Amino acid sequence: MSRVYVLDHPLIQHKVTFIRDKNTGTKEFRELVDEVATLMAYEITRDMPLEETTIETPVSTCTSRVIAGKKVGLIPILRAGLGMVDGILQLIPAAKVGHVGLYRDPDTLQPVEYYVKLPTDIADRELIVIDPMLATGGSAAAAIDALKKRGAKSMKLMCLIAAPEGIKVVQEEHPDVDIYVAAIDEYLNDHGYIVPGLGDAGDRLFGTK
Ligand code: PRP
Ligand code: URA
Repeated sequence: MSRVYVLDHPLIQHKVTFIRDKNTGTKEFRELVDEVATLMAYEITRDMPLEETTIETPVSTCTSRVIAGKKVGLIPILRAGLGMVDGILQLIPAAKVGHVGLYRDPDTLQPVEYYVKLPTDIADRELIVIDPMLATGGSAAAAIDALKKRGAKSMKLMCLIAAPEGIKVVQEEHPDVDIYVAAIDEYLNDHGYIVPGLGDAGDRLFGTK
């Protein structure tokens, strides 16, 4: 069973409150999502392996540690996942970025895949799949499927807000993928929106509604 981590750092929680607020405009929403993504990246990378290396400081020789293990790949789910990419790249600037394009059919709520472009070496990378909203879980589960079909072996899912329903779907379909969220909300409404949530993440990020 995959684990669920709620990243409850006070700065993350504070900023998420303003992201949720319907009076927060597009510019500020985008900036806050970017900042929260950086803070979440700091927490999500805590388990990165380290190895020792020897360097010369201006004073003496010293053994110190650097990141070891697999390189990172970021996989935003289009569109809304794009809003978190730059924030993560602030901390992991050498990460490669692949894109999975999915939209949720408004009537069936089923994900429809329209674009996939990935680094050629995804099998050798630790992937972070990014989407602000985990609602029914259909989009995240389909994106993870698409990645696994193309050879991905190791990944984490990073979302701002999750509904219990979405967490259950990902845990059942992808028990090997741990989930990192800033908040777990109450439920999904009849239109598949997370309550209380933040509304439509893509529309609020890109100002399309
Ligand atoms: C939103 C959101 C997620 C998806 C979550 O995308 O960004 O990808 O819904 O819902 P689910 O868990 O029920 O699948 P949307 O379909 O609105 O596309 P967009 O990002 O292009 O706006
Ligand atoms: N997609 C969103 O952007 N918001 C929700 O609440 C659910 C799905």
